[in-house]
Amino acid sequence: MTGVTVRAPAKINLQLAVGPLRDDGYHDLVTVFQAVSLYDEVTAAIVDGPGEDVVGVSGEGADSVPAGPDNLALRAATALAQVAGLSPDPGRHLEITIRKRIPVAAGLAGGSGDAAAALVACNELWAGGFGPPQLAEIAARVGSDVAFALLGGTAVGRGRGEQLTPALAPATQYHWVLAFADGHLSTPEVYATLDRQRARAREQVPAEPGLDPALMSALRSGDARLVGRALSNDLQPAALSLFPALRKTLAAGLELGALGALVSGSGPTCVFLAASADRALDLAASLSGAGVCRSVARASGPVPGAAIVSAAR
Ligand code: C5P
Repeated sequence: MTGVTVRAPAKINLQLAVGPLRDDGYHDLVTVFQAVSLYDEVTAAIVDGPGEDVVGVSGEGADSVPAGPDNLALRAATALAQVAGLSPDPGRHLEITIRKRIPVAAGLAGGSGDAAAALVACNELWAGGFGPPQLAEIAARVGSDVAFALLGGTAVGRGRGEQLTPALAPATQYHWVLAFADGHLSTPEVYATLDRQRARAREQVPAEPGLDPALMSALRSGDARLVGRALSNDLQPAALSLFPALRKTLAAGLELGALGALVSGSGPTCVFLAASADRALDLAASLSGAGVCRSVARASGPVPGAAIVSAAR
């Protein structure tokens, strides 16, 4: 096997409840993830010749993706090689190629998706033979959202977001419009802003954030209207204070008939739920014309997690 290509989906958070800051710098979460049909593609290949492992990135936001050892896909491959006990071959090296469609630092877990894709690709390339539970364990060490990018679908995340339980729900497809912002938000900065806002308001933060029963029952009913009403994100006020223009984006989408709107994860992407594929098309066109974001995309979910699309010898 010389090259394996895997695609990994973006995620959105239908609920994101954030607990207090932990001693390790993370926050306990309860989140409901959904994987949506916007994908990055990652190819892992073994290349003859000595040298360091390399990453090449093209597509949406490629310039702001680190190409060195900080790259999440490369970190995932390195973590897998360590667990597999593989030692570097002086005559060959790994080449990872990432084709991005998921914007970078957008609250859509694009980097985590690339890491998940690299794990699946390298597991195949090196005949690692690791199953989903072992890959999920390695994923959790690489980043909080990587395990979900492996799993896909709709799932409840706890802990840092890495402890996952698939959500039991009918096979409803939801139609989303994603409004990409002109700019980035740093996830640690958004969490730190939330902590400061809470301290200033002397807010009592429950030690264990709770799953929203209204959202879970809406998901079980498969009624997009109810799901739209139950969307929530504790990080949204922090994201809005760092990126005030997003208020206009959210308001525009709601005015244009979205069933619900929220900032995805730590932002700055805003997501809108539409009643049907046709409504999503209309909403995307109108939002795009309203000049309240950099660009828009449509995506449906839930979709499966990272999966092999081709393998070449
Ligand atoms: O794990 P990941 O690299 O995705 O997290 C990025 C940053 O987001 C962390 O360093 C932390 O500041 C913040 N974070 C957090 N609590 C979480 C997940 C992420 O505070 N549950």
